[in-house]
Amino acid sequence: MADFVGAVDQGTTSTRFMIFDHGGNEVARHQLEHEQILPQAGWVEHNPIEIWERTVAVVRTAMQKANLSASDLAAVGITNQRETTVVWDRRTGRPYYNAIVWQDTRTDRIASALDRDGRGDVIRRKAGLPPATYFSGGKIQWILENVDGVREAAERGDAIFGNTDSWLIWNMTGGVDGGRHVTDVTNASRTMLMNLETLDWDDELLSFFGVPRRMLPEIRPSSDPAGFGVAHSPGPLGGDVPITGDLGDQQAATVGQVCFAPGEAKNTYGTGNFMLLNTGTNLVRSENGLLTTVCYKFGDAAPVYALEGSIAVTGSAVQWLRDQLHLINDAAQSETLAAQVADNGGVYFVPAFSGLFAPYWRSDARGAIVGLSRYNTGAHIARATLEAICYQTRDVVDAMAQDSGVTLDVLKVDGGITVNNLCMQIQADVLGVPVSRPVVAETTALGAAYAAGLAVGFWKSTDELRENWNESQRWQPNWSQEQREQGFGKWKKAVQRTLDWVD
Ligand code: G3P
Repeated sequence: MADFVGAVDQGTTSTRFMIFDHGGNEVARHQLEHEQILPQAGWVEHNPIEIWERTVAVVRTAMQKANLSASDLAAVGITNQRETTVVWDRRTGRPYYNAIVWQDTRTDRIASALDRDGRGDVIRRKAGLPPATYFSGGKIQWILENVDGVREAAERGDAIFGNTDSWLIWNMTGGVDGGRHVTDVTNASRTMLMNLETLDWDDELLSFFGVPRRMLPEIRPSSDPAGFGVAHSPGPLGGDVPITGDLGDQQAATVGQVCFAPGEAKNTYGTGNFMLLNTGTNLVRSENGLLTTVCYKFGDAAPVYALEGSIAVTGSAVQWLRDQLHLINDAAQSETLAAQVADNGGVYFVPAFSGLFAPYWRSDARGAIVGLSRYNTGAHIARATLEAICYQTRDVVDAMAQDSGVTLDVLKVDGGITVNNLCMQIQADVLGVPVSRPVVAETTALGAAYAAGLAVGFWKSTDELRENWNESQRWQPNWSQEQREQGFGKWKKAVQRTLDWVD
């Protein structure tokens, strides 16, 4: 009897493999970063071959650390950075171009043209998304138009598209020797090509981007006993293991946080921040700059939808302090440096490096640090960076309350920056609600494992999963209401400066 479930988490900056037991406890993990390729301002790419090689390495190493073999795993789940676009040749397994990452803004002309002639409204209605550089559709169009031979190959059926989930599953299930070309509903809901009601590729949407249907993967439920094939032997796992779960990373974190009831929400702090509110089987259309997206679909059950507030730059702003400004040596120092000052000293930082996502959706916005005086130090900049993470979350929480009427009693958080106590304290202060972190903060991998395990009966129901969730820490708000609203008012003024900054 297999006692464990594995999960590949293919993220924006790194890939990890984690192994969980029946209680949802971590048994082993291994993680490797990959290169961020920045060919010019606004462009962000990854090498898909490097990502596949890193995946093989992390799976093998984690299995060795745990001293497990393939037969110890009941199933494997996949979760991934969403939207990032890979187009490869199914005959050779070679990508035609680097993966174009979700943060990349090279398709801003494609996105703004959609809004000028009414196609944008069709995309909003059918796909639940505002036309933006963020999603895969424009990135596929760019590759079809700019990389020699791809359009012909796509029409022949040789050039195929996937987000990194599809790329990894295709490779894990045999690659050129019959690899499965599949994705799940949550990933497909991030392309601007899938109709949220039919859960199928939509011919009208495909025509907007000139994408041939035969390029696209088959769309499966997120938890599916036979949908994604078997990680083949010998492969990175050293034997056959069924792949039975696949979700975009933010939806996986929602599952890992056991947000299974309408009105339950989580906020994940990664490269960016992504807050998802479960809206049940209701498709709620946002009027306040949020996305409507598929939250998950477990087997034959009806799909569950979510409202999402996507923020492009949060953890990557801390990386910027480290790598570009050299203000800190590692991410943890952002806390110690920011803690040297009691407040932001009047400084506000809007890290609109990829434009602004929710609720503004302005790809032409550019970052700004405002309110500087001679008195300010690096500590104020560090503090303003942590505050920016929290204020951007406040923007999204407000939009969610307006769209759904749901006001949060507590914010469930997870992801890298949640180890930063100061940042979580500021988050509680800025929102005026408690912030709660679970014991297993790796909810993304855990959610993919849950989806995979549910499909094979390793876990019997979502109620069983709820029992695995335990709080590790809670931060209570300390600011007065006046202090909170004053700070937020200044933040809004700072955001306005970045929106005014248009060529
Ligand atoms: O939509 C982008 C998101 O899926 C990326 O998440 O954790 O890799 O920054 P992360």
